Amino acid sequence: MSRTVYVNGEYLPEAEAKVSIFDRGFLFADGVYEVTSVLNGKLIDFAGHAKRLERSLSELDMAAPCTMDELLDVHRELVALNQIDEGMIYLQITRGAATDRDFVFPPADTPPTIVLFTQSKPGLADNPVAKRGIKVITIEDQRWGRRDIKTVQLLYPSLGKMMAKAAGVDDAWMVEDGAITEGTSNNAYIVKGNTIITRNLGNEILHGITRAAVLRFATEAQLKVEERPFTLEEALAADEAFITSASAFVMPVVEIDGTAIGAGKPGPIATRLREIYLEESMKVAV
Ligand code: PDD
Repeated sequence: MSRTVYVNGEYLPEAEAKVSIFDRGFLFADGVYEVTSVLNGKLIDFAGHAKRLERSLSELDMAAPCTMDELLDVHRELVALNQIDEGMIYLQITRGAATDRDFVFPPADTPPTIVLFTQSKPGLADNPVAKRGIKVITIEDQRWGRRDIKTVQLLYPSLGKMMAKAAGVDDAWMVEDGAITEGTSNNAYIVKGNTIITRNLGNEILHGITRAAVLRFATEAQLKVEERPFTLEEALAADEAFITSASAFVMPVVEIDGTAIGAGKPGPIATRLREIYLEESMKVAV
């Protein structure tokens, strides 16, 4: 079935949606994005995604094409038009199309390009992968230095996923100066005893919206949270490991670089946090 997508103010069948070959997103990866999950036809943590989007735009001195309330309406309209029960909505805003290729930004009044589309994923919440857990390898983190901005330059994460695939595993965790930064498209955590350890916020990682919620729920559940860099050695000796993202929620990691973590199956803390996250975020979904 053809999707209805949104491009620069219009709802169109996906085959009719077009952007210019001079679009700076296409030529320079000069654009930002958000992925918001949909459960029971409702948006999970839209407010968090909207806030991070505003920050990404402002860090790049890029104009927002509309207000965040208008964006919420577009999200909801696309969910309705495409009858999405479970899945994701992808949103991308670029600096727009200049009249030619030029490294220098186009005039400030160049309209930004905005594109949104839905991805239907029945079974996203009740994902069987969460019951077996995922396996990861570690790779060198070769991304640029402003990973806190959610830009569309995803070539290295994409190469990382391919390295994982070639190694017969599910994903890769990236390592810089001896410490894990994050997964290719998710934040990374280890658990030791009653303590959850995850990289502190900074320019080195994306400030995950799921991360913020999960750390809040963890504290409420009397777990200790340490936000600091952790090494591969620590991770290999951990009791549990997991990742978080808008599309994976909380996903247990059962193997790193061929070594089983803890009992080599999803641990109780990751499993419980997944349940709490899904339950609590669905309660306040919009
Ligand atoms: N990825 N770190 C990176 C590098 C990411 O790309 C993502 C999200 C996250 C998790 O952020 P959040 O919890 O806000 O989804 C962390 C999205 C899902 C993607 O690119 O598809």
